[in-house]
Amino acid sequence: MTKRKILVTSALPYANGAIHLGHMVEHIQTDVWVRFQKMRGHDCHYVCADDTHGSPIMLAAEKQGITPEALIARVKDEHLADFTGFHIGYDNYYSTNSPENKTYAETVYKALRADGKISSRTIEQLYDPEKQMFLPDRFVKGECPKCGAKDQYGDNCEVCGATYSPTELKNPYSAVSGATPVLRTSEHYFFKLGDCADFLKAWTAGSTLRADGVAQPHLQAESLNKMNEWIEGGLQDWDISRDAPYFGFEIPDAPGKYFYVWLDAPIGYMASFRNLCDRTGIDFDEYFKADSSAELYHFIGKDILYFHALFWPAMLKYAGYRAPTGVFAHGFLTVDGQKMSKSRGTFITAKSYLECGLNPEWMRYYIAAKLNARIEDIDLSLDDFVARVNSDLVGKFVNIASRAAGFIAKRFGGKLADGISDLELLAHLQAEAVNIAAAFEAREYAKALRDVMALADLVNAYVDANKPWELARQEGQDGRLQEVCSVLINAFRLLTIYLKPVLPKLAEGVEAFLNLEKLQWSDSETLLLGHVINPYQHLMQRIDPVLIEKLIEANKQSMEQQAPAAAQYEPLADTITIDDFAKVDLRIGKVLDCKFIEGSDKLLQFTVDLGFETRNIFSGIRKAYGEPEKLIGRNVVVVANLAPRKMRFGVSAGMIVCGSGIEDSQGLFLLDADEGVLPGMRVG
Ligand code: 2FM
Ligand code: ZN
Repeated sequence: MTKRKILVTSALPYANGAIHLGHMVEHIQTDVWVRFQKMRGHDCHYVCADDTHGSPIMLAAEKQGITPEALIARVKDEHLADFTGFHIGYDNYYSTNSPENKTYAETVYKALRADGKISSRTIEQLYDPEKQMFLPDRFVKGECPKCGAKDQYGDNCEVCGATYSPTELKNPYSAVSGATPVLRTSEHYFFKLGDCADFLKAWTAGSTLRADGVAQPHLQAESLNKMNEWIEGGLQDWDISRDAPYFGFEIPDAPGKYFYVWLDAPIGYMASFRNLCDRTGIDFDEYFKADSSAELYHFIGKDILYFHALFWPAMLKYAGYRAPTGVFAHGFLTVDGQKMSKSRGTFITAKSYLECGLNPEWMRYYIAAKLNARIEDIDLSLDDFVARVNSDLVGKFVNIASRAAGFIAKRFGGKLADGISDLELLAHLQAEAVNIAAAFEAREYAKALRDVMALADLVNAYVDANKPWELARQEGQDGRLQEVCSVLINAFRLLTIYLKPVLPKLAEGVEAFLNLEKLQWSDSETLLLGHVINPYQHLMQRIDPVLIEKLIEANKQSMEQQAPAAAQYEPLADTITIDDFAKVDLRIGKVLDCKFIEGSDKLLQFTVDLGFETRNIFSGIRKAYGEPEKLIGRNVVVVANLAPRKMRFGVSAGMIVCGSGIEDSQGLFLLDADEGVLPGMRVG
C-alpha cells in the first residue's frame, strides 16, 4: 500500500469560551479520521491550536482584570483538558499567539504584498470615544433601521432578520462603554480577493490526485455550490487590518495597525505544524511547499466555509505555498431537535459531561454513528443516545467477549484453539474490512458503524446457534467449546479493530485483555490461534439515564450561577415623567396559541387573548423558547398600544415584554403574573 503523508486540522477554538459538544462533534470527526489513517500505516499528523486574537478576547481579559496573555494561557489549559478527556489525540495543540505564527503571518503578508495582492484605503468606522477604540460590528447596538426593534447588533436584526451596516442603526450605543459612537476614518489594509477569482474558480471546482492515485475533490458538492454563488456574486477585497488597541500581531511597516484575527487564525495551522516539526524532525516544507505531494485537510463547521474555501486557499497560493487538498465541512449539532440552549441545560460543556461521570466514548460513538460526509446538522437525542449506546456497544459488542472469555479462562487456561475449522463467520468479518475502511476514508462513519453493528449481529446469532453454555455441560465437547469460544474471541478482536478509530480507549482495554500489541488495520488479515489471553475484565458500563438528568441539571446551574458583571448592564435610559409612562398601555394577555414560523429561526407567532380582543403578535424569542406549545395557557405582559408593525410574516399587533439586555445572559425571558390576573388587566 502507498504510504501517504497527511496533515489534518480541526478549526481553532476561540480562547474566550468553554468547549461544548458542538466543538466536540468536529474534533471527534477529525480524530476518528486521523486515528483511522494512522492505523492504516500512513504518516498522518493532526494539529490544532487556540484562536487567541481579536477584540472580544482583549475585552474579555479586561473585564476579568487580567492580561490577554493570562486569559489565553488559562483557557488553553482548560481546552486541552477537555479535548484530552474526550481522547482527541492531537500531535500538537498550540496557540496562534506564538512566535511561529507571528513569523508566518508576516511572511505570508509580505509575500502577498510583493505579489501585488495587498491594497490600502481609508474607511469610515464607528468609534467609541470613551473607550477610544474602533468598534467591531458586534459591539455596536441600537435600534433596527428596518423594524425599530431595540438593542439589535450592528450587523443584523434578530427580530426581523434584516442585515445592515452598523452605521445604519438608529440611536447606536457602544456595547463596551455605553457611549454614543462617532464616525471616524482610518486607513485599512485589504487582501485583493477579487484578483484571485480565476484561481478560486478553478480550485473550488477542482481535485488533487493523491499519492495513492485517488482524485480528492477539494470541496464537497454543497460547498462548491455555495462558493460558486459567492464567486459569481463578485469577490470583495477583504479588510485584514484593525486599529490599536487590538490584541494581535502588528502589521509590518504599519505601526498601530494589526492583522485581523481571521488573517492569522488559519496561518495558525501552519504555526502549530511548524512547532511540531521543530520538536520532532518532520520536514515542514514537504507539507507546505507549492508543489507538495502531501495531503492537507481542514475539518470545519459550515459557518466558516468562506474563510477556508476562499480566503485561505488564495492566501496560501499567492504567498507561494500549496493550497489544501480538501476542506471538509460539517453541520451544526442540535440537542433533542433544537439549537443548544443554556436555559434548557442543553448547551452542554465538555467539562460538565466528564465531571458528571459520563464515559467520553459513549459520546464519541453516538456522534460518529450520526456523521456522514455531507453538510447536515446532526441531532443528539438524549433518549436515543442512551438507547443506542446501551444496545450497540454494551448489548451487541462488549457482551460477545464476556460470553466467551469465562470458558476460555476456566476450561482452557486462557488458551485459544490451535486451529479453527469453522471459519465461515470469521472469513466474512475479515472480508468486510475493505468496505468498512472505505466508509471511514470517505468520512461516512454512520455507514461504517452500521456495517460493524450488522457484523456484531451475525456474531451474536452465532452464539445463539452454537450455545457455548450447553456445550460446556456436555461430555466430550471440550474441543468444540474451545473452538466456538475462539471464534467468538477472534470475532471480537476483528470488531475491535473496526471500532478502534472511534473507541481508542476501549480498544486499549481489549488489547490488554487479549494480550496483544497495538492493533493496526492490517491485523484484520490474521487470526489468533493457540494464543493465551488474560482474564476478562468489564470493558464498558451501560449508561444509567440518571446521569443524563444530572448532566442537564449541571448545565442549567452553571448558567444561573453566572452573575453579570457591571459592565454588561445596558446604560439606564433618560428619566421620564409619569405621564410618559402612562402612554405605554401594558396589559395582561393569555397565550391561546404559540407556534414556530416556517422560514424564521428567530420568531414565534403568538395568539394572545387580551380579554377585550385577540391579537396576533410575532416575538423574536424563538432562541430562548424552543418549545412553543409549552407557552400556551400562560400569562404574559403585552405592550397593547404599540403601533402595529408589518413584518415579513404578517402584521404584529403589539409586543410581548421580556427581560433581556445583559450580555452573556443568553437570551430573553418572559415575565410571569401571579394567579388571579385576568386577560386585559392593565399593568402599571
Ligand atoms: O469560528 C471559530 O471558532 C474560529 N476560531 C475558527 C478559526 S479556524 C482557523 F481558521 F483558524
Ligand atoms: Zn428589525
